[in-house]
Amino acid sequence: MQVRWIPAGSTGGVTADELAAAVGPRTAVAVLSHVDYRSGYLADVPALTAVVHDAGGVALWDLCHSAGVVPVHLDRDGVDLAVGCTYKYLNAGPGAPAWLYVAARHLPSADNPVPGWFGAADVFAMAAHHEPATDARRMLSGTPSVIGIVAVDEGVKLVAEAGVERIRAKSRDLTAMVVAYADAHLRPLGAEMASPRDPERRGGHIVIRHPAAQAVTAAMSARGVVPDFRHPDLIRLGLSPLTTSFRELWRALEITREALDER
Ligand SMILES: Cc1ncc(COP(=O)(O)O)c(C=O)c1O
Repeated sequence: MQVRWIPAGSTGGVTADELAAAVGPRTAVAVLSHVDYRSGYLADVPALTAVVHDAGGVALWDLCHSAGVVPVHLDRDGVDLAVGCTYKYLNAGPGAPAWLYVAARHLPSADNPVPGWFGAADVFAMAAHHEPATDARRMLSGTPSVIGIVAVDEGVKLVAEAGVERIRAKSRDLTAMVVAYADAHLRPLGAEMASPRDPERRGGHIVIRHPAAQAVTAAMSARGVVPDFRHPDLIRLGLSPLTTSFRELWRALEITREALDER
């Protein structure tokens, strides 16, 4: 097996042209991020999936940074496989279970590499040979954390109640507020936007580039704003629309400006 990486370009994400140049007849699976964990670049799912299919491969999408904040249409877009966590925009907290999507057409041939009793056709059969369930349950392995699952249940209910389209609308306004503030107040302090300016190509978080990003992130955390530092020079602001108000964001941006000003 050969693994080929596609480095995210200056736009911060993989385009259909870059993917088309990387895949070929030997491509088995392309692993793609819907929202890039650094830049926040929002990839074009139907276009990139089609490129993988044209090469004869399957597309596996990582939705960790989009599930719960950006609408996704896996069946409509012909996606083969998808994975994601539940502790970001799905609100379930660290340690809550990950999830997996397998297109119905692939289920009969989808082998679970870690088979376990929760994925068996008859969970209590305890048979000598593993007989997988015929539905998506076949992808389960062992006993899950009940507390984690209860948290997912509640977190997903909140998203469903608000509606992901409305969450996305607020998310776009939140990120637009950061872009406008950064241009007006952070750029003069040496910080530049490293997320796409096109709202159609932007997910739910924003990254700002500054040479002292690590120290600035620490200074912000000390003042109660907790961003992520990402190597080598990125300050990532994760803006969860269900829990982040515009007033809070404004205050956080002012604290960012103060922390940059002190450098
Ligand atoms: C792009 C991406 N994929 C996957 C994950 C989830 O990793 P894990 O399931 O090990 O927590 C994360 C977590 O931050 C992520 O950013």
